Amino acid sequence: MFLDVNERTANGANSCNTQAVAAAASPALEQPIVEPAPVNFAGYNSTVEVLCAHRPHHPVLCFSQDILTAQAERFLAGFPGEVTYAVKANDGAQVLAALVKSGLTVFDVASLEEMAIVRAQCADAEFHYHNPVKSRLEIETAYRRYGVRQFAFDDAGEFEKLRQICSPDDTTLVVRFRLEGSHAVHDFSSKFGASQTEAVTLLRAAHDAGFATALTFHPGSQCFNPEAYSQHIAAAAKISLAAGVDLVSLNVGGGFPAAYAQNNLPALETYFDTIKSAASIHFKGRVPPLVCEPGRALVGSCMSLLVAVKHVRPATGEVFLQDGIYGTLMEFSQTSLRPAVRLLRNGTECQAPASFQIYGPTCDPLDRLPGTYELPSDVQEGDYLEFATMGAYSTATSTRFNGYGDVKIVPVRDPFRI
Ligand SMILES: Cc1ncc(COP(=O)(O)O)c(C=O)c1O
Repeated sequence: MFLDVNERTANGANSCNTQAVAAAASPALEQPIVEPAPVNFAGYNSTVEVLCAHRPHHPVLCFSQDILTAQAERFLAGFPGEVTYAVKANDGAQVLAALVKSGLTVFDVASLEEMAIVRAQCADAEFHYHNPVKSRLEIETAYRRYGVRQFAFDDAGEFEKLRQICSPDDTTLVVRFRLEGSHAVHDFSSKFGASQTEAVTLLRAAHDAGFATALTFHPGSQCFNPEAYSQHIAAAAKISLAAGVDLVSLNVGGGFPAAYAQNNLPALETYFDTIKSAASIHFKGRVPPLVCEPGRALVGSCMSLLVAVKHVRPATGEVFLQDGIYGTLMEFSQTSLRPAVRLLRNGTECQAPASFQIYGPTCDPLDRLPGTYELPSDVQEGDYLEFATMGAYSTATSTRFNGYGDVKIVPVRDPFRI
């Protein structure tokens, strides 16, 4: 996909003329883009406006609060239970503030640091500490300083730690279980999750120790088959029955998909309907309160990445960008996910597409996106690429390797999305 920045902007206005681009191209005149304060969402209408105003040297994440709010409302309206947010997907202040404004006040957290970050945006935020493995210090600090009253675990050693530190009078212990066979781009069952047999034992042990008890699973991130949720819900019902323990809740995890390239997945509402009907079928009139903890599907589409092309080797079809796998594009080197990308240019000359290898800016040969990407064959230094669906696992996993990774976040009403 190609967008001539002289031709149009997202709101239809021609806000970028050649003169403006030429003037802005001078490094001496480059405007620094300052990360906005959490509540200041005044910004740009489109990525093209950002490009014309700054021709940014550093990568820019174009953040749309409107898109994020709409996605939060979609979950709140459609999911048949409580919606919490998995902070690990994006712990940015603007993102958290927007989610809180939309009405989310319960957060799935993986660490004490995440708790502190969330509390800075929402003083009375409630936490589900669903990282299955925690140190004693982490459990104790979560329980005493942050008032956490819900913890996940998946083995007897972790249960013992929780039993020694938390009071059964006010704490819910949540057994995380797993099923074999993944229906997701990112399989989560290899590191965490008790087998169904182990889950029965753990659930009963927690119940017998006097704790309120619940079950949780994660079907894997970017789960492409809603039936994965049905299968896990069926297993949860069996575990509960076999343990002889009623659940105070069933947390169906994250895993809901966001829109990436070549991605023709069912709508979120299909996932919600599947979950609702599976719970009623398998729990037969004793459906526990349902909870979800999406990360990717909530925040993925609210950001695009605007990144400068710094060098091209036309003969070998190689393009070098100002950001790469040690920056916000890391996830695309670890999974089969492929982002949609378009080229932004000042001027209309643009040849038919050709395949290019895309490299990041560091000296490491690993710093390249797997496979090739179709870009206009005359892609050149001074062009920009814009990647869609960059709100999840982008800033969260970005490093400063080789001195890169300085990404700015700019409010943009209408970033590139698919
Ligand atoms: C316990 C837990 N819940 C929720 C999530 C969010 O998953 P997703 O981004 O696929 O929705 C994760 C991701 O790692 C997780 O570990």
